[in-house]
Amino acid sequence: MTGVGRVRARANIALAKYWGKCDTAHNLPAVPSVSVTLDALVTETEVALDPSLDRDLVLLQGTPRDGPEADKIRSLLAELRTLSGSGVYTRVSSHNLFPSASGLASSASGFAALVAAGERAYGLGLSLEAQSALARRGSASAARSLFGGFVELPSGVPGDGTLAARALHPPEHWDVRVVIAMTTLGAKDVASRAGMRHTAETSPYYAAWLGCAPGYAREVRDGIAARDLERVGRAMEASTAAMHASAWAAVPGVRYFKPSTVALLDRVEALRREGIGAWSTMDAGPHVKVLCLAADAPRVERALRAVEGVVELRVSRPGPGIEPW
Ligand code: DP6
Repeated sequence: MTGVGRVRARANIALAKYWGKCDTAHNLPAVPSVSVTLDALVTETEVALDPSLDRDLVLLQGTPRDGPEADKIRSLLAELRTLSGSGVYTRVSSHNLFPSASGLASSASGFAALVAAGERAYGLGLSLEAQSALARRGSASAARSLFGGFVELPSGVPGDGTLAARALHPPEHWDVRVVIAMTTLGAKDVASRAGMRHTAETSPYYAAWLGCAPGYAREVRDGIAARDLERVGRAMEASTAAMHASAWAAVPGVRYFKPSTVALLDRVEALRREGIGAWSTMDAGPHVKVLCLAADAPRVERALRAVEGVVELRVSRPGPGIEPW
């Protein structure tokens, strides 16, 4: 047993979206998703075994935490403890090196770093695939952040807890950029987990989403393999629209768009009319992420910065998977 694990993981953005589960107990996605790991959005986590503790101590951004977020972390640590046969609790300290109040999802990088640091602390020697399957239980999108570059998480088979993400291509495969435009933060968003559950339970369009999502994921995957930006972009926008339409049609509707979100989507379409290959996506929040070629990123960044309601921008290249630090 090594006693301490320190791991850096990065957030990822889904180019083909995951929304809805086929097995809630095992947190298995109902549809396949495809992502790119983002170099610019890093979480650093240390897990240290401490025999003096009588429960896991969780510090996020330096502050001790309790409540549902800490409970999810403790339940993953309990799984690692069971696998190790150890009875020793841990001190967990995790920092997002990007503005965590910005509303950018940090659960993907957070759970990926937690599982990887925890399995090192307990000296388990788990494969990346096994770590990905464990991170998936924290958040399905976290399963993808174990890997760098372009990554796929297949849909689950109910009852099969081994589902893991897999790397499709390394970061060097394609020199694209994701320009992240953060918009004015209004009322708190509905968390993805609650939003997708409510969609599955009440939206008449959920079945349609389940019907079309696998085809978009295939198209995104094939487009990435061929480095065909337009093919990926069209399928990504279709996947995003279908996911959000299914959520919006829930009763009551779950709507993540703000006026600045729509203004950004309009600006991206205008960029295309100006001859720039720029394609948008959004997750469970009002921010817009734009995929483009590296050479076009400065122009896209300038254009988005001028949109009313944009409070901060980040440009990210495809990044690596988990790393020790
Ligand atoms: C819209 O992975 O946060 O970002 O598995 O319930 O924790 P849980 O959900 P989560 O959902 C992410 C949804 C999304 C699309 C995506 O990342 O694929």
